[in-house]
Amino acid sequence: MTKWSANSWRKYKALHLPEYPDQEKLNQVEKQLAGYPPLVFAGEARELKRNLGKVSDRKAFLLQGGDCAESFDDFNADYIRDSFKVLLQMSVTLIAAGNCPVVKVGRMAGQFAKPRSAPKEEINGVELDSYKGDIINGMDFDEASRVPDPNRMIQAYTQAAATLNLLRAFAKGGFSDLSKVHQWNMGFVDDSLQGQKYREIANRISDTLEFMEAIGISSKNTKRLRSVDFYTSHEALLLPYEEAMTRLDSTSGEMYDTSAHMVWIGDRTRQPDGAHVEFCRGIKNPIGIKCGPSLDPDELKKLIDIINPENEAGKITLICRFGHDKIRDALPKLVKPFINSDYKLIWSCDPMHGNTIKSNSGFKTRPFERVLNEVESFFDIHHELGTYPGGVHLEMTGQNVTECMGGAQAIKDEDLSARYHTHCDPRLNASQAIELAFLISDKLRQSQESNNPKITIAN
Ligand code: PEP
Ligand code: CO
Repeated sequence: MTKWSANSWRKYKALHLPEYPDQEKLNQVEKQLAGYPPLVFAGEARELKRNLGKVSDRKAFLLQGGDCAESFDDFNADYIRDSFKVLLQMSVTLIAAGNCPVVKVGRMAGQFAKPRSAPKEEINGVELDSYKGDIINGMDFDEASRVPDPNRMIQAYTQAAATLNLLRAFAKGGFSDLSKVHQWNMGFVDDSLQGQKYREIANRISDTLEFMEAIGISSKNTKRLRSVDFYTSHEALLLPYEEAMTRLDSTSGEMYDTSAHMVWIGDRTRQPDGAHVEFCRGIKNPIGIKCGPSLDPDELKKLIDIINPENEAGKITLICRFGHDKIRDALPKLVKPFINSDYKLIWSCDPMHGNTIKSNSGFKTRPFERVLNEVESFFDIHHELGTYPGGVHLEMTGQNVTECMGGAQAIKDEDLSARYHTHCDPRLNASQAIELAFLISDKLRQSQESNNPKITIAN
């Protein structure tokens, strides 16, 4: 291996990076960002790695979720709060079912850059560069908006900082107090079957809290009951930004990408000899690797050896995104070579990216049935192989959007236009996300009852 540095990726082939017309401006922005304060601390990224280590050890479950692409327009406190609320609700549901800790990681506070399948977009005979996420160019379909602008990186940094600030306050400042478990239910979900099922769990928790208070344990004297640990993540796609945010941690002498606690490598940029893998191999953060149908087991092994040569627990999360109809074939092929090996891995399921279709009316959508199906197969396959289904990775929002078809609200093709707001891929709304959490809960319960004696009591 050649020597790694934060900029050694520049010597490798980098797919999906924008070409900035104003190179001088780009240099200036990179320099500016490199001087800004880190967004997260190395110690926090290490703590996440330790927690993920528990997942690889079958003692915890990973819940990772948020927008496909955060946007500069949809940026306000309620929006952030609602996504956070749904993740809290899902996590409480999973803890109640699995009696195991849930590691909560948002696709938030930095998820701005998008790889696109097509470099160009055509509307009514006009062809422009594709939209690549607000950190790169603008979504409006006009020539000026689509030009990559380095200044957008500064705006993304600022938005990520403010989002993280609010998330920290929500996680530690009283909002996540378990005694508020009833208040996390979203208005539009409240009356539904999902809302009702959630209330039952919340009631059970309230009863337990009352009992605990009677014996002297309450959120007033117990930090664990009044706060949660919440981490951030995004795809490490825009390498000039990630490089500028990478710093030496003085306490450990190691390099961390301080733009998020965890970053992942996308399915389109995971070439073992590519720039994105080169960048990620040198930073000490936990790293996700998206695994799509085209990934073969030898290549996966190569990637793992490059990124985690010391086989650290919690370092690598394999985020599998095959599609409901491909997972039966693809997942066992990837998992089998690692059975009975010493490799410390987390297998997580992204049931979104392999299940995107175009609806009859032309919307990019995901049938909720297929999403559920892929998750179910993911659990069943791991159960059959005796391996551990360690987590899920979701595109979701706390808003009442109509982007994925189906679910308890029975969203149909003709409903999609009502509230279709995503800047990129269709997301589960809060109702669908909670419905999915109940399915995962059932599966977690089953897998524990049958073959998981190692799972311990929740904290
Ligand atoms: C994503 O997670 O938004 C994404 C683009 O996924 P993938 O790399 O798996 O296609
Ligand atoms: Co997406």
